Amino acid sequence: MNAFGHRYTGLIDRYRDRLPVSESTPIISLGEGNTPLIKLHNLPKVLKKDVDIYVKYEGLNPTGSFKDRGMTMAVTKAVEAGSKAIICASTGNTSAAAAAYAARAGITAFVLIPDGKIAMGKLAQAMMYGAITIQIKGNFDDGMRLVKEVADKAPVTIVNSINPYRLQGQKTAAFEIIEELGRAPDYHCLPVGNAGNITAHWMGYCESSATDVTKVTESCAFCEGHCKYAGSIVGNRPKMIGYQAAGSAPFIRGAMVDDPETIATAIRIGHPQSWDRAWKVMQESGGWFDECTDEDILVAQKMLAQYEGVFCEPASAASFAGAMKDIQSGKIAEGSTIVLTLTGNGMKDPDTAIAQCTGKSVMVQIPAELEAVRTAILNNMAQ
Ligand code: F0G
Repeated sequence: MNAFGHRYTGLIDRYRDRLPVSESTPIISLGEGNTPLIKLHNLPKVLKKDVDIYVKYEGLNPTGSFKDRGMTMAVTKAVEAGSKAIICASTGNTSAAAAAYAARAGITAFVLIPDGKIAMGKLAQAMMYGAITIQIKGNFDDGMRLVKEVADKAPVTIVNSINPYRLQGQKTAAFEIIEELGRAPDYHCLPVGNAGNITAHWMGYCESSATDVTKVTESCAFCEGHCKYAGSIVGNRPKMIGYQAAGSAPFIRGAMVDDPETIATAIRIGHPQSWDRAWKVMQESGGWFDECTDEDILVAQKMLAQYEGVFCEPASAASFAGAMKDIQSGKIAEGSTIVLTLTGNGMKDPDTAIAQCTGKSVMVQIPAELEAVRTAILNNMAQ
């Protein structure tokens, strides 16, 4: 509770007028949303470019990723409809969020995850929250196909982003950004896997700017009739930029990828579910897709941590890796305001973090003696 006694009770309460809920909807929330928009102070100097870069640190959601925004809506609506079980395929974060919100609601979560290809923290979350965790000998795309097939044959509600309520929840990140900046940024960069999140952000920006215009000229392809702004045109919106990992980059190849591979396991997806919608986002926003190598992603992850104190997971760092390239080449112009979504918390994937932080200057092993500690300090002081 703050000094005035107002508790923040989650994004459905906050944006009730812009979400498909009613007074009687039983809201399942863990206080998600309201995440920090952190202005980068040091990295623009490193890049030697005059740009304002903000990171929307979604890793501070209750289960450590942006998925909580969508999951509060999807589980709320599933419970409202009387569902007793939810199911998803996941590269890890959706399963963590589904498991947590199902626990909160007192229903069962079934999660299908690629065997051996999800970060340890995410696996720990799904198991600890009590989901029935099904490891499949296949990748996310196989899991997604199976989930769609089984949902026709068993009493379970799918909570992947093909569930339209997921995108409704996720669009609220755009509302928060506009409220804080007082306008939309010039560019909004996101890592892209299934492309649900980039689609949801675009919906959010379109709905927000539609409140400022009165003329209705085109129909909204995204909200599927849920938002009251369907059919509006829009004013101030960013160019949307989607970055993919080079080994899992169907939007760059222009075709589905059958064997996606990347260290950024969260976006190891070759058959994105929001394919058409994401292309439409690019067309409407004037943005673009690009790819980053795994090496670029890891460098970017470390730079965010070591220059700014912001620890995101590898997939999230694709947004900074890609933006860095586009800022340096001038494709993103100097003088721009840029928002990068950092989709998940770095603590979810400790193995990848530790693996790239070995070396004498980071980890020093010494005897438990005063002189050894003093020497370690003197040898490692910044010059
Ligand atoms: N970043 C992180 C950390 C993710 O977990 C995901 C997706 C994305 C980016 C991409 O978002 O799919 O909306 O384009 N993770 C899903 C999962 C697939 O199962 O957790 P998208």
